[in-house]
Amino acid sequence: MKLKIEGLSKAFDGNQVLRGVDLEFAEGELSVIVGASGTGKSVLLKHVVGLLKPDAGRILVDGQDIVALSEDDLMAVRRRFGMIFQSAGLLQSLTVGQNVGIVLEELQGKGTAEVGEIVTAKLKAVGLDGREDQMPATLSGGQRKRAAIARALTTEADCLLFDEPTAGLDPVIAATIDEVIRKVNETTGATTIVVTHDLASIFAIAQKVHMLYEGKVIFSGTTDEFRASDDKRIKEFLARDMAAQNSR
Ligand SMILES: Nc1ncnc2c1ncn2[C@@H]1O[C@H](COP(=O)(O)OP(=O)(O)OP(=O)(O)O)[C@@H](O)[C@H]1O
Ligand SMILES: [Mg+2]
Repeated sequence: MKLKIEGLSKAFDGNQVLRGVDLEFAEGELSVIVGASGTGKSVLLKHVVGLLKPDAGRILVDGQDIVALSEDDLMAVRRRFGMIFQSAGLLQSLTVGQNVGIVLEELQGKGTAEVGEIVTAKLKAVGLDGREDQMPATLSGGQRKRAAIARALTTEADCLLFDEPTAGLDPVIAATIDEVIRKVNETTGATTIVVTHDLASIFAIAQKVHMLYEGKVIFSGTTDEFRASDDKRIKEFLARDMAAQNSR
C-alpha cells in the first residue's frame, strides 16, 4: 500500500494536537515515527485507520482519500490495515490460537480446519510454534506482542501499524520483536509503520525516520541523516534517549 498524509490537523477541545502533518510512506517501506510523549503519534495512527476524523487534511490510501468515506466503505479499507496496539490487546479468556484466529472466524467466516492451519502458520512466523492452546496470561510480555503480531498477519494486511511494540520490554526481548517486525515486513512486503521511543529499535529496523514535534513533522529521512542532523530538537531527542538507555 502507498500511503500519503497531507496537511492533517486535529484539535481536542482547544488542544491543537496535529498542526498540518505531511508524511509519505512508499510501498513496502519500513518507517519509524518518533517524538516526545504527547506529540500526537498515537492520534496520527488512529487517523490512518479511520478511528479518528481530522479537522483538516487528507489521508491517501493508494491515491484514494479515506477521510470522507462512509463507515461502510471505511470498513473495507480498514481490512487492509493491521494495527498492533501498545497493550497487545489479547482477549484473556481465549487461548493464544483462538486470539490469533478470531478475525478469520468472526469476520471472514472461515471454517475450523482452515483457521487452524492459518493460525499454525502465523504463530510459526512469529516464533510461537505450538503455542495454540496456551492462555495469554501464561505468556511473557514479548510473547504476547508476538501473538498480537500473528493476529495482525491473519488479516493479510498490506499496511501494518505498530504503536510502541517494544515499550516496557527488556532489551533482549525488544530485539527479538524488532527481528519479527523486520522479517514480517520483508516477507509480506506490507508497508510498515512503527511508532517507538526506543533508539535501539530505530537504528535496528528503520529504512526511514519521521520525527513529530509539537504537532508537525520536523524531520523525514534515513537513519544516517537522522543521526547526523544538526537540528537541536533532534539532538536533544537522541541525547536524552541515549542517556535513558545507558541507565537501564
Ligand atoms: N480521544 C482524545 N480526546 C481528547 N484528547 C486526546 C484524545 N486522544 C489523544 N488526546 C490528546 O492528544 C495528545 C496526543 O496524544 P497521543 O496519544 O497521540 O500522544 P503520543 O505522541 O502517542 O504520546 P506517547 O508517546 O505518550 O504514547 C495528548 O495531549 C492527549 O491528551
Ligand atoms: Mg502513543
